[in-house]
Amino acid sequence: KQWTTKLRYQNYGDWPTTYVAALEQQVSKAPWRLNYHIQPTTGLLNDPNGFSFFNGEWHLFYQTYPFGPVHGVKSWAHMTSRDLVHWQKDDVSLLPDSLLDSHGVYSGSALPVGDELFIMYTGNVRDENWQRQSIQAGAWLTKQKLLRKIPQALISQPPAGYTTEFRDPQVFVYQGEYVMLIGSQDVAQQGQVVVYESKDLLDWQYRGQLHFTEQQMGFMVECPNLVEVDGQPVMLFCPQGLAQNILTYDNIYPNTYVIGTALNMKNLSLEQPTALQNLDDGFDVYATQAITAPDGRALAVSWVGLPELTYPSFVDGWAHCLSLVKELRLKEGRLYQYPVVETMALRKHERHFNGSLTNETVLMSEGVSQSFELEVNVARHQRGALRLLANPAEDAYLEISFDTFSGKIEIDRSCAGEPFAEEYGSVRQTAVPENADLSLNIFVDQSICEIFINKGLKVCTLRFFPKEDQKKLLILSEETLKYDGKLWDLVALP
Ligand code: FRU
Repeated sequence: KQWTTKLRYQNYGDWPTTYVAALEQQVSKAPWRLNYHIQPTTGLLNDPNGFSFFNGEWHLFYQTYPFGPVHGVKSWAHMTSRDLVHWQKDDVSLLPDSLLDSHGVYSGSALPVGDELFIMYTGNVRDENWQRQSIQAGAWLTKQKLLRKIPQALISQPPAGYTTEFRDPQVFVYQGEYVMLIGSQDVAQQGQVVVYESKDLLDWQYRGQLHFTEQQMGFMVECPNLVEVDGQPVMLFCPQGLAQNILTYDNIYPNTYVIGTALNMKNLSLEQPTALQNLDDGFDVYATQAITAPDGRALAVSWVGLPELTYPSFVDGWAHCLSLVKELRLKEGRLYQYPVVETMALRKHERHFNGSLTNETVLMSEGVSQSFELEVNVARHQRGALRLLANPAEDAYLEISFDTFSGKIEIDRSCAGEPFAEEYGSVRQTAVPENADLSLNIFVDQSICEIFINKGLKVCTLRFFPKEDQKKLLILSEETLKYDGKLWDLVALP
């Protein structure tokens, strides 16, 4: 199929039902579909949107283009869950069906207000000359799951000094007022985050730029998201075109964060921000959205995929997924991310192992399902590697190598299956403290792998596309290595 602009922006209603049915059929039979991660029924998924707890349930929307694995005219699909782990999709969706969002219901957030869920999103509109307009629009979701768009624009255009690259509103309450952050580009082509305030959610006043770093944030900041973690404000955002001398990163665009000591709304600043850091040291995390849950936890969920890249599942008519829901913590000034405790309910069939090897490759497990959690513990002063989902010939696998002297960890997906995005390299590195014990909790689900190092001090998330015969778990070292661990099948029973 030739995905021309015309086709990508065709009205949803103009797609024949036979086309949709055939696509559903194709995707349902596709390899690499996931067992316990949120994925699109058909077509493309990108950013998580409107993550919230409302009316006794978790709500999570996501950006989607349902008609193919491309970035076409976007809408929001809706999922709910009682436990952050088992998610159900329903028919609620925010469609690009009004003059405020004719060319896409772009990313945004949600906030429970009174009896309803307030939703704020960016309406992407193009005129006849394909000039972009960026409108900030709203909607309400009732307890009966009826969606009602607010008919007028809440912010009809960017303030003076900004281009129409202006989107992804995050709404939250700060000292009794509604505050909104928006990702933007100023007329000097620099990425910024701007602040609005409102008393009633309808009338929004522009306050200015948020100061959360002294550095230049590339040409555009997408998906700004401020969340309190253990009493401190943490700002998550995606600076596009960020200079490598500000932060080294390997992906096309990074998902970054800074930690502040306090949010000062008088001078619109995050006080004493840390230097920029990568949220994830893997290959595919972007557009992370985080909220404060009613129980006080800071919860985050990421798009596992990146803009502008081609992934192997495209041939099967679908693309991308969301990460597990991760709890954020601050410990000794460092940000930790770890799957919420509810995730453990997915564990089935626990196996324990431990062993010792010297300059050899040992089979830890054979014939594993491709959806599992593997925990491996290695005491300090050892080196070795794991080869996950190795094939019978043991020449295809995802390799995670570790050196606990230097604290260096390396993920190599070059032999993990169908190659892709190789122009951005097939290896990622991360570091944990030197001369320290190491623990790895690795969540694999068919074609995604989320690696949590030292209980979330570092996270490396990636897609990989193995063949069906890749079912062995290997461990190896050129020296002497002692290890122990556990393995669980992960099953998301409906
Ligand atoms: C980030 C992003 C957002 C935008 C959305 C459109 O991936 O580009 O800035 O709102 O995706 O789907």
